Amino acid sequence: MTSTGGSMKPSELQGNILITGVTGFIGRHVLYEFLNVAMETSWRNKIYILLRGKKGLSAAARVEHLLTHEYLPDYLKKYDYQELADNITAIDGNLEDSDLGLQVCSLIPREEQLYVIHNAGSVNLFNTAAAEQEVHHTNWLGTINLIHAIELFNSKLVFMSTAFSCGIVDGVIGDNFSFYQDNSFRNHYEKCKNLTEKFIQSYCTEKNIKYQILRPSVVCGRLIDAPLYYISKFDVFYGWTKFFWNLQNQGSTESVRIHISRNSKVNIVPVDFVAKSVLAFFQQDIPYVNIVYPESINNRYLHASLLDALHFNRYEFIDEAPTNLNKSEKLYYRSINKVYTPYLNQCSNEYDTQLIGSIMGSTVMPKIDLHSLADFSICNHFDEEMVY
Ligand SMILES: NC(=O)c1ccc[n+]([C@@H]2O[C@H](COP(=O)([O-])OP(=O)(O)OC[C@H]3O[C@@H](n4cnc5c(N)ncnc54)[C@H](OP(=O)(O)O)[C@@H]3O)[C@@H](O)[C@H]2O)c1
Repeated sequence: MTSTGGSMKPSELQGNILITGVTGFIGRHVLYEFLNVAMETSWRNKIYILLRGKKGLSAAARVEHLLTHEYLPDYLKKYDYQELADNITAIDGNLEDSDLGLQVCSLIPREEQLYVIHNAGSVNLFNTAAAEQEVHHTNWLGTINLIHAIELFNSKLVFMSTAFSCGIVDGVIGDNFSFYQDNSFRNHYEKCKNLTEKFIQSYCTEKNIKYQILRPSVVCGRLIDAPLYYISKFDVFYGWTKFFWNLQNQGSTESVRIHISRNSKVNIVPVDFVAKSVLAFFQQDIPYVNIVYPESINNRYLHASLLDALHFNRYEFIDEAPTNLNKSEKLYYRSINKVYTPYLNQCSNEYDTQLIGSIMGSTVMPKIDLHSLADFSICNHFDEEMVY
C-alpha cells in the first residue's frame, strides 16, 4: 500500500468491484476512492454500482449528480465528468429486487473475481415498530438478497457493519465480537447488524464465499481530503446539534438540562478515513476490523463543543433525567432524547486499535475538529438538500 496526496492506492488492484449505497454518505466516499485508483492506474472500467432512482431522479441522473457534486473531493476535480463516468457501470436496482441476481449477472463478467462493498443500509436508530421493519427489510433481507445475487460469482463480500453491533458491553472493544454473547442492544439497528454479521459469517463459510466485516464507529465529515468537513446528512450528533440550532432560531430563551453521564464516551471517525480503510483492507484476508479513532471523546466535552459552536449557552449537564420539565426540555426528552440517550449514558468504550493502526499507519489520522464540523452544518442551515 502507498499513501499519496491523502488518497490511498493499492499498488495492484485486480478484479471487479460492486459498490452498494453510493448515494449515501459512506458509499459515495468509497466510490470516490475507487474512482481515484481507476483514474491513476491501468485498473479501468471495473467499477459497478447498485443504485435506484429516487425523488424523481433516475439512477443515471443520480450518478451524474454524484460526479459533478460541489463537494466532490479535490483529487477528482481535475477530471471531467465523462472521464469519471466512463469507469462506472450503474445497475439500476433495489437491494430487495427479486431479480437482483439476474441484473447483476447480466452486467458483471463472471470470469473475474468480484469484490462487493456493501454499504447500502438503513441507519434508523429509533426504537419504534416502523424502525424495526425498516432495518429488517433493508439491512437483513436486503443483505441476504444481495448475497444470493452474487453466489454465482467468485466473490468476496465486504459488509459495512457498525462498531455498535456488539451491543452494550463494558471495557475496551476488540475486533472479534464473538466474545460478546447474550448482548443487549440500544436499538433494533444494532441488533439487526449483529444478526446480519452472524448470518454472513455462517452462510458465507458454508457456501465458501469470502467475506469481511468492517465496523466504523460514528462517522463524521471529511477531515483528510478537501473540501474539508463535508457531510451529506445531519443525523446522529449533527441531528442532536440541529435540535438546539432550531431552538435558538425559534427564539427560545429557556435553559435546558441535558442528561449526559459524566464518564460516557463516543468514538468518532472521519468518513474519508473510513473510505481509505476500505481500500486498504478489502483485499486482505482479515475477517473483521473496527474502523475507529484511536481515542473516544468524552460526551460532555463533545456536546459542549457543539453547543459552543452554536453559541448556545443556556444549558447544564446533569447526571439523572430531570423532572418538572419546561417547554424546551419536554420537546428534547420527547423527541431527540429517545434516540440519543442510550449513546449519551450507556456508552463509555475505548477500542483496541492495533489492527486498524497497523494497516492504516501511513495515513495521518486528523484531529477531530468539532467546531469546524459543526460550522459546516450551521453554514448549510442543517439543510440536507444543500449538501446531499
Ligand atoms: N453514518 C454512520 O455514522 C455509520 C456508522 C457506522 C456504520 N454505518 C453503516 O454504513 C452503511 C452506510 O451508512 P451511511 O451513513 O452512508 O448511510 P446513508 O447515508 O443513509 O446511505 C444509505 C445508502 O443505502 C442505500 N439504500 C438504502 N436502502 C436501499 C435499498 N433498499 N436498495 C438500494 N440501496 C439502498 C441508500 O440509497 P438511496 O439514496 O436510494 O436511499 C443510500 O445510498 C450502513 O450500513 C450503516 O449501518 C454508518
